[in-house]
Amino acid sequence: MTKDLLTLASFPDKDFFKVLERAETLKAVRAGGEERFTLKGRSLAMIFEKSSTRTRVSFEAGMSQLGGHAIFLSPADTQIGRGEEIRDTARVLSRYVDAIMVRTYSQESVEEMAEYASVPVINGLTDKHHPCQVLADLLTIKERFGRLEGLRLAYVGDGNNMANSLIEGCVKAGIDISLACPEGYDPDPGVLAWAKAGQPAAKGAGRAKKGKVSLVREPQAAAEGADILYTDVWASMGQESEKTARRKRFKGFQINGKLIGKANPGCIVLHCLPAHRGEEITDEAMEGVNSAVFDQAENRLHAQKALLELLITG
Ligand code: CP
Ligand code: NVA
Repeated sequence: MTKDLLTLASFPDKDFFKVLERAETLKAVRAGGEERFTLKGRSLAMIFEKSSTRTRVSFEAGMSQLGGHAIFLSPADTQIGRGEEIRDTARVLSRYVDAIMVRTYSQESVEEMAEYASVPVINGLTDKHHPCQVLADLLTIKERFGRLEGLRLAYVGDGNNMANSLIEGCVKAGIDISLACPEGYDPDPGVLAWAKAGQPAAKGAGRAKKGKVSLVREPQAAAEGADILYTDVWASMGQESEKTARRKRFKGFQINGKLIGKANPGCIVLHCLPAHRGEEITDEAMEGVNSAVFDQAENRLHAQKALLELLITG
């Protein structure tokens, strides 16, 4: 068993599928009002160097639902903001809590935290990855289609942290992913190389097949035959100064009624949220019958509870 969740690629297949399965059980258990305090007396430190609604609340509520406790740490109120080194923070927090969740800018910071922490470290989003979101996305897809393997996902927009983690998650889950990004905004080359090397290696936890990745330039080309349409903001946190330029560059890279019409009948629309209606997604697509975005948001809670149980109690 791995100690941390830093990227989906580095998360063992066995644990990846275990979390997805356990998340389904935990969701059913909560719906039946039979929750058990599997993390009683355990604490999670949550470092947020960027804003959050879903990640913060789902981790905090999740810990409390399992009988544990979460501690919100912002740079403004801690020594982190005054420059205390990651390697020192990691070792100190490890003496107090049972796991650390970090949302920050560079992937290297989370990796350094994991290197020095003696407790599990969870990547709660970096500029490069957002693995927790993709666990919830896959749970949502599984709920809607009853399976993962053999489905087709079209991602439209920026080749950002979401795109990178979706590639890794889809490859592992056996979902073929086609990404339509404007030139110059492709996903991370290292992630693409990993995906390529993983195809058609077929040895994940008895899985017959890994998902394939393709890059296209036209949203319509990606959407053709897709079961899932996925998008994310054109300008991510930390890219505020590029907003105007990106608005021009990404015009047309939008999930709307026309694009939904290109996908398979019964396709679902996903967005990690927060959404900018009128930019990467229309109001119509967010609110329409194909939209699964609020189930997807809810599933952050169930997927992360499963993850916390696995990492903290094994
Ligand atoms: N999707 C997601 O991570 O949302 P927050 O930024 O609100 O945490
Ligand atoms: N790409 C977005 C995801 C937000 C959950 C960002 O990094 O801001």
